[in-house]
Amino acid sequence: MKIIHAVSEMFPFLKTGGLADVAGALCKSLSRFGHDVSIFLPGYRKIIESPEFAKAKLKVILQVELGDEYLRGELYALPLGKRQTMYVIRRDEFFDRSSPYGSANRDYDDNDRRFIWYCKAIVEGMRLLELKADVFHCHDWQTGLAPLFLRVAEEEYGTSLALKTFFSIHNMAFQGLFPSNSFRYTNLPSEFNELDGIEFYEQISLIKGGIFFSDKIITVSPNYAKEILTPEFGCGMEGALKTRSSDLIGIANGIDTEVWDPNTDDRLPANYSLSNLEGKRTCRSHLIEKLGLAETENPIYGIVCRLTEQKGLDILLSQMSFFSKQDCRLVVLGLGDPKFERALKRWARTRPDKIAVCTVLDETMSHLVEAGSDYCLMPSIFEPCGLNQMYSQRYGTPPLASNVGGLHDTIDDFRENPETGTGLLFEPSEPHFKNALEESLSIFRSEGEYQRMQANGMKRDFSWSNAAKEYEALYSDSI
Ligand code: ADP
Ligand code: GLC
Repeated sequence: MKIIHAVSEMFPFLKTGGLADVAGALCKSLSRFGHDVSIFLPGYRKIIESPEFAKAKLKVILQVELGDEYLRGELYALPLGKRQTMYVIRRDEFFDRSSPYGSANRDYDDNDRRFIWYCKAIVEGMRLLELKADVFHCHDWQTGLAPLFLRVAEEEYGTSLALKTFFSIHNMAFQGLFPSNSFRYTNLPSEFNELDGIEFYEQISLIKGGIFFSDKIITVSPNYAKEILTPEFGCGMEGALKTRSSDLIGIANGIDTEVWDPNTDDRLPANYSLSNLEGKRTCRSHLIEKLGLAETENPIYGIVCRLTEQKGLDILLSQMSFFSKQDCRLVVLGLGDPKFERALKRWARTRPDKIAVCTVLDETMSHLVEAGSDYCLMPSIFEPCGLNQMYSQRYGTPPLASNVGGLHDTIDDFRENPETGTGLLFEPSEPHFKNALEESLSIFRSEGEYQRMQANGMKRDFSWSNAAKEYEALYSDSI
């Protein structure tokens, strides 16, 4: 199949969260199955300045309508190995910035113009290069309008650009909401600014474009596919989604087992596997030493995440007394909401021997935290899929996670299934989290239990090849 993905970030070029990991690994797997895969990305500064981009070739100049202007862009192509091409759409006014969406406090004021233009530019690029896809697959609000623009362009030019369109929801909480008057940048007829179009409570919603105007909607775990049909998790979009529920599919993400393999990971000070965990102990000592924590016989709890409400940081902060009373350690690696950064740092200052907080984005450090910790914490309030719980199981670091979204689908609860369990699941609330922490301590201290849970996790196969097969089947059944 000829498959085109349109996305806003992709590992290793640019990453703010799991979307980038998923885009990178899914495209790689699909191309390895023999499909011809193209990936569209905005020409962010980090991509343009990457050494790989020096090899990119300018393919075409774009003139893309945005309200009453035509704005120029440049489309570059960069082959990424066999059967994978990355198309980068460059317009420095929009994308030559230090971060893709804004600062921790505030989104860029022109995100409406930037991403409406980007969606149109993708379609115009596909048209001019005559890419003719079997599958056009867009991800999240940043590309939410592209499936609609594609159909509009097909009609306007009397041509076919893609057989079927797919839209992935990675996080319902980010909807690309803009004031109603931003609708003018779409140049769509006004009927699209209505309830069965992209209008959303007197605003416009770019994610709604993806929901209403793609042939199939995918979200990143089967459990989250059910959750987003409810008011609790649907973020106001549950009504719109219900009208499309027969086209909504949940496919749990996989992980890139080449990047995340404790046996070969060159970001770690030592490698290890289930049959020889010596290297894991080295990673643990390294982590303790690097962060200036005191040695302990008790567990190190690690958490790597964006510091946002979603990730349950209030629940974590509610357990200060657990971490003060018990002789265990806590390592937080995360960047985000200054409110949480401040609270966590203040907490760490009270017990620097026990709690370390690193407010940086550091890929190498994230591998060390996964490998060097004894438990991984994910007290998320909601979690469409989550990747860290899969990384941590593979790294022999059982997760303690909320029983929501993809965490429910990818963690086997050890208390329910002591023979196969890989972690502890709990309802996302303070008392349940406290219970799980206490139980994790007794499991850690009891002879053999922790080791069994750890081994069960390390044996699980989270590789993308399984998930990518589900995508492949969905694509081929649809076209
Ligand atoms: P989300 O996409 O909601 O942020 P995921 O669990 O799907 O959550 O993916 C998060 C990804 O971002 C993981 O690969 C995680 O290791 C990484 N990550 C989050 N914060 C940091 C950080 N401060 N430094 C390095 N990697 C991070
Ligand atoms: C989102 C979700 C996360 C998911 C990731 C990749 O950012 O918050 O749960 O794993 O996308 O799909």
